[in-house]
Amino acid sequence: MPRTLYTAEQIRARVVELATSLATRFPADDTPHFVAVLNGGFMFLADLVRAMTRPVTIDFVRMTSYGSATTTSGSPRIVHGPGTDLRDRHVVIVEDIVDTGLTLQALRRHLLAARPGSLSTVVLLDKPGRRRVTVPVDLVGFRIPDEFVVGYGLDCDEAHRNLPYLGVVAPPS
Ligand code: IMP
Repeated sequence: MPRTLYTAEQIRARVVELATSLATRFPADDTPHFVAVLNGGFMFLADLVRAMTRPVTIDFVRMTSYGSATTTSGSPRIVHGPGTDLRDRHVVIVEDIVDTGLTLQALRRHLLAARPGSLSTVVLLDKPGRRRVTVPVDLVGFRIPDEFVVGYGLDCDEAHRNLPYLGVVAPPS
């Protein structure tokens, strides 16, 4: 089994902190729109919105994957969503992990073209050592070294997504 990196309880506590920080970023009467990246972001989104003490709306996008999970080639594209008019909305991208930054960069460009009122990004995990492009990230759950992380929505060839904790496995070759 994967070696534990963060327990379910540590994740829960950090998600509550992220939700509290996020809440201060928008006008009190606003309903921010959360856009999560499938598949890895589904569990983080579910916990994050339940920790928000205000109305929010949600949506999902699916991006093309590129090569294996450890080698990146080309620019990712959006193949599904968002299904909502984002114009003038306060939009929050919810992503499981920012690694090279290419996925987030492509998604930000796509969403900015829809003229949102604002665009923020919250990521659960950040691997700064692997970044290839500079991309703004407003809130980070945990900064981690260059290790391959699974669980809490993240997978290794579709395995381990349903683990309630974050763990480390040997990277896929
Ligand atoms: P980026 O475009 O390189 O920033 O890649 C982001 C995507 O790569 C994430 O949404 C994940 O799907 C995948 N990824 C990167 N590192 C990991 C990892 O350690 N575990 C699982 N998936 C990862």
